[in-house]
Amino acid sequence: MTDKNRAIGVFDSGVGGLTAVKELIRLLPQEDIVYLGDTARVPYGTKSRETILRYAEQDFDFLRKFGVKMIISACGTVSSVLAGESDFGEGLYTGVIRPAAEAAVSTTKNGRIGIIGTSATIRSGSYKNMIRTMMPDAVVFEKACPMFVPLVENGYISTDCLPCVEIAKEYLLPLRAEGIDTLILGCTHYPIISDVISMVMGKGVSLISSGGEAGKYAYRMLQENGLLRDSGGRGKVTLYCTDSVELFRENAEHFLDGLDRVELKIQSCRLE
Ligand code: DGL
Repeated sequence: MTDKNRAIGVFDSGVGGLTAVKELIRLLPQEDIVYLGDTARVPYGTKSRETILRYAEQDFDFLRKFGVKMIISACGTVSSVLAGESDFGEGLYTGVIRPAAEAAVSTTKNGRIGIIGTSATIRSGSYKNMIRTMMPDAVVFEKACPMFVPLVENGYISTDCLPCVEIAKEYLLPLRAEGIDTLILGCTHYPIISDVISMVMGKGVSLISSGGEAGKYAYRMLQENGLLRDSGGRGKVTLYCTDSVELFRENAEHFLDGLDRVELKIQSCRLE
């Protein structure tokens, strides 16, 4: 198989990385995508750096077996721990930090940027450091939102869902009070509850999807490297998860709803 006909590999701890897959499918419906959601071990964001690195290594190994032409860490937590570059060998790679930081810097008008993510992501300072290199005078506010991932993984995602709205208020109202005009959804699960987040933050705050931006960034990287598959065909999207296929299917189909341009297959796998 020629290099450009190989699949794109994407991984996350759960369904959150589908925010990158959705954007890839929108931009590149002809590409094959292999996705891994490590649902048996989600959340990653509350684990130690050593554990996150061990999981990430296994995620990379799993995707490499498919001979993928690029790997996207569609996980803010892993991307933060890897600090921008993949430590796991050669080949095209992107995480979500740079793409989301670039989008935030080009979106903000008042230079006040909020970042929300898992505890591990916020602890790492990855987004903040990246923003500071791009826009030294940016004023950055951060908040870890550890309850958002379990809410999303269990389908508590709508604006009618009281627990989700109350938890969002608890986390987000202090950020809103700081007068930010741009908020990075630094964990790829968060765009799945963007309606709830937007309701709490108000219309004046632009939300940046880390997964969506990583999808756009990957597109540019593939283009620059002459690795885009010729357009016209219909790509195959294969989603692997490490726990119950049923729950994953429900979440994935709900989230990827209406994407009939691709052939979707969901199956389970083991990493260790
Ligand atoms: N989507 C992952 C991230 O972007 C979720 C993290 C977790 O598993 O805690 O950080």
